[in-house]
Amino acid sequence: MTMILSTGDLRDLARRRIPRAIFDYAEGGSYDERTLRRNTDDLDALSFRQRVMVDVSDISLATTLVGLPASMPLGIAPTGLAGFFHADGEILGARAAAAFGIPFCLSTMSICSIEDVRAATTQPFWFQQYLMRDRGFNQELIERAIAAQCSALVLTLDLQVLGERRRDPRNGLSIPPRLSLRNAFDLVTKPAWIKTVLLGKRRTFGNLAGRIGGSSGISRLSEWTASQFDASANWRDVDWVRSRWPGKLILKGVLDAEDARLALATGADAIVVSNHGGRQLDGAPSSIAVLPEVVRAIDGRCEVLFDGGIRSGQDIAKALALGARGALIGKSFLYALAAGGQAGVTRALQILREELRVTLALTGTSRIDDVGPHILR
Ligand SMILES: Cc1cc2nc3c(=O)[nH]c(=O)nc-3n(C[C@H](O)[C@H](O)[C@H](O)COP(=O)(O)O)c2cc1C
Repeated sequence: MTMILSTGDLRDLARRRIPRAIFDYAEGGSYDERTLRRNTDDLDALSFRQRVMVDVSDISLATTLVGLPASMPLGIAPTGLAGFFHADGEILGARAAAAFGIPFCLSTMSICSIEDVRAATTQPFWFQQYLMRDRGFNQELIERAIAAQCSALVLTLDLQVLGERRRDPRNGLSIPPRLSLRNAFDLVTKPAWIKTVLLGKRRTFGNLAGRIGGSSGISRLSEWTASQFDASANWRDVDWVRSRWPGKLILKGVLDAEDARLALATGADAIVVSNHGGRQLDGAPSSIAVLPEVVRAIDGRCEVLFDGGIRSGQDIAKALALGARGALIGKSFLYALAAGGQAGVTRALQILREELRVTLALTGTSRIDDVGPHILR
């Protein structure tokens, strides 16, 4: 892993290690991918104010995120199917995050179940869920997250209906999976992935196994899930979750100041400014473009986390400068996982930490709490 110097290097390696359909599932956004591109373009467009001759010999990145100490202001975002990027992907991601002292968020749509991750790790993790038509299943997931002593529940608000990700059907990543000559040829060139993931122990949605008539087939479970997105979900349903979950509640997918105030009114402990990594409303602004107005609307009354386009420690510093308490990584995590399993994720976290540390130093900042808009031009 020594010549891996950036998260881009991990992405290049991931591309060589996993089937094209899986790589594109992470890489792609919805429709024409405008919002996907804006996430990174708008971060890139920000410049730092370089400061010199400030004593930065003692830099600390330590902070707290949603009530728990974190070694740096970063967490791993929930991503469905992480276990398809590497065998036992969610377990390995949770372990890497725990060893680093940062939060890991498990998605409902994971391959490893809540119980698998609980049994394989010692640190508490966050658990993410959507509001489903079958509220009994939401209730069951809440109970399982309580039993697993998850330290926070992340409720994702921006997936009442599914934005179309066009790369998936084009690659045959559909339900049921379609085997074309192209993806068959691509698969043959990835024998290690076939052996460890396709023929591995865990190959379906771990949290849903046995949900529909005892079936654990991924096609049937995917169909069931697709039918479960609840277009009627509204703020009263968020109150319903709040009343059942006794721990920290994080509302993910806020992209508007008015929604931020409504989220705050539910008693949430934190919100995540997010456009789902450009995978939902194409034409929505980048997450970084709306961060300042959401931060103003919240006015310190709950934590504001950020995701969308974080590829470097410099990006984390920019999000912090515009008022986020911490940032989450989706794609950068999945590429690292595909590139090298737990070691890959650890390498990504080392790179991001070091980039953040140097960025703080060169903007004349020693403490993470001192990062503010003044570090940007
Ligand atoms: C492949 C993939 C799967 C995702 N699955 C979920 C999910 O199950 N639940 C969720 O709330 N967000 C999901 N997201 C969105 C991420 O949590 C996060 O908001 C997004 O990836 C951040 O942008 P970034 O990828 O540029 O870091 C997913 C993102 C990707 C790339």
